Formats: sequence, structure tokens, C-alpha cells
Amino acid sequence: MTSRETDPKEIQTLQREILRLKEEKNAVILAHNYQVPEVQEVADFVGDSLYLSRKAKESDASLIVFCGVHFMAETAAILAPDKKVLIPDVEAGCSLADSITADDLRHWKQQYPDAVVVAYVNTTAEVKAESDYCCTSSNAVKVVESIPEDREILFLPDVFLGAYVAKVTGRKIHIWPGECHVHAQIRLEDIDRLRTQYPDAEFLIHPECGCSTSCMYYAADGILDRSKTFILSTGGMVRRSKESPAQEFIVATETGLIYRLKKENPQKDFIPANPEAICEFMKKITLEKVYRSLRDEVFEVRVPEEIAKRARQAIERMVAIG
Ligand code: 13P
Ligand code: SF4
Repeated sequence: MTSRETDPKEIQTLQREILRLKEEKNAVILAHNYQVPEVQEVADFVGDSLYLSRKAKESDASLIVFCGVHFMAETAAILAPDKKVLIPDVEAGCSLADSITADDLRHWKQQYPDAVVVAYVNTTAEVKAESDYCCTSSNAVKVVESIPEDREILFLPDVFLGAYVAKVTGRKIHIWPGECHVHAQIRLEDIDRLRTQYPDAEFLIHPECGCSTSCMYYAADGILDRSKTFILSTGGMVRRSKESPAQEFIVATETGLIYRLKKENPQKDFIPANPEAICEFMKKITLEKVYRSLRDEVFEVRVPEEIAKRARQAIERMVAIG
């Protein structure tokens, strides 16, 4: 028997119902670039973490359905406290966000009492509340560069993004040893295999990848062509794919992004660096769950105001830096 999620007729029916409910309830649907195609298709905005945070803040809808993972919906709830923010499945978590707790951070801060804390957006609201700045993969370098040179920095929780930022900025940064289980498995061996197989391709590499720092050394040593190697957020990859004259791209991130890249560049080829790089948390959000979420207004994501207030400061500092 065909399931509702794979039968094209059922997909269309669900999509129509979602669009009708969206109008009726003055809702906006935000979807991360890793969402399944049929969910991306009903979204008002599809993008990376920073873009979606901005859209949540700017929106005048009274209801936000966040198709992404929990910390992203929390960020939307913090930035839009007057709106109801829903996540279609509460189990859409994030291994990276789970790698540090607010208690871990409080202990770490005790060892470096004068340090400035920069938290990647992939963290819980409690961790953000203990931080001075937030950042995403698209603005981590800018955020660190905005901090006076004489200040010590604690960067969390992604070890690969932290190493990348330290290398680009030349700053001495203490880095938390966390990682995303999906990006950590995109390794240098994958890049080595693909660079001989696709000598003309451009490399689009997410800074959370296990191979990101080595790829920067490769580009510096000429093993990878510097003009064809880009360390980018998922939104940066979409922009680069459109501007670039290249026909082939090796995409080192979660494979969900390929749908959007192909849709926006139908004549170009996109090869996943590791086809197994699939985030099971992102894929928890299905069209049927989006429909239920809008219909029953579940599951509301709330952040207690005393935590939201402190977290908001760190997020707004990031949004202001751009
Ligand atoms: P982007 O902000 O680049 O979309 O990344 C978010 C994320 O969760 C990567 O795994
Ligand atoms: Fe978290 Fe990794 Fe999934 Fe991104 S891909 S949401 S960092 S587990």
C-alpha cells in the first residue's frame, strides 16, 4: 500500500490543506534547508539558521510553524515572544546542541572568568542565556572579529567550526569539544576520493564537517584549488551555486540541501561528499506532521521569560552584526 507521504495525490492534498490552514490562521511556515522536499514546498521561507531567525523576528504572522530542529524553534520563540511558535515533532533534536549543557558552560566559565562566550546557534536556550554572543555558520567569523583583540574567547559547542574560526581570524580561542554526528562523518577521505574523480568541481564545505580544517590546509597548499574551495553555511552554498560559473559541485553537508541546489540550478550537477550524511532529526518533520501541527496548534515551543531575556541579548547581538 502507498503511504500518505509517498503517494503524489496524498502529498498534493496535504499541501493544499496546509496552505488553506496557513491562510485561515495567519500562519507562516519556516523551513530549514535540510527539510524534505515536500515540506520545503509548503514553506513561506526556506533557508539557513540565520535567515530563518531573521524571518521569525520580522514576520507579522501570529503563528509560526518551524520545520527544523528544536533549538531553531526555540530561537524563533525567543525573538518573537508575542507569537505562538510550533514545532511539528518535539523529538526533532540536535546532537550538537546536546553536547553542552548550561551547567557544563557555567563550570567552563568559572575557569575563564574574564572570557567572552560565543555560542553557536545550535545550543539550547539555557546555554544561550549563559553566553555573550550567538553566531551561526554564516557569521561566526564576523562575530569573533567584532570582539576586542585583548579579550579571551570561549567558543562552543562545535570543535570543527571553532577550529575554522580560529584559523581564519588568527585569534586564540578556547573551543568546546562538541560535534554534529552527521557532519563529523564527512571526512578528508571523502574529499580525497572526489577531487580525483571530479577535477573541475567546486567544493562547498560546511564548517561543521570533520574535513573542514584539513580542506583549508589543502587550499592553502594548492592540493585543492583555492578559487574552487568554499567554506560556507547552507545559505552561502545556495548563493555560491548560483553565482559560480562551475557546472559540478561537491557538497559537504547534510544531503537535504541538494534538493534546493538542484531546484535553483537545474543545469548544474551536485554530488554529495557523503551520501550517508542524513540528519534523522531534521527528517522527523513530515508533511503529515506539519498538517497536524497547523490544525491542532501543536507543539508549542515556549521559553521561560527569565531565560529568554538573557538568551535574546546574545541572539540580537548576532543579528545586529549580520
Ligand atoms: P546552517 O545555519 O548553515 O543552515 O546550519 C545549521 C545546521 O544545523 C547545520 O547542521
Ligand atoms: Fe544538529 Fe547536525 Fe542535525 Fe544540524 S545536521 S541539526 S547540527 S544534528
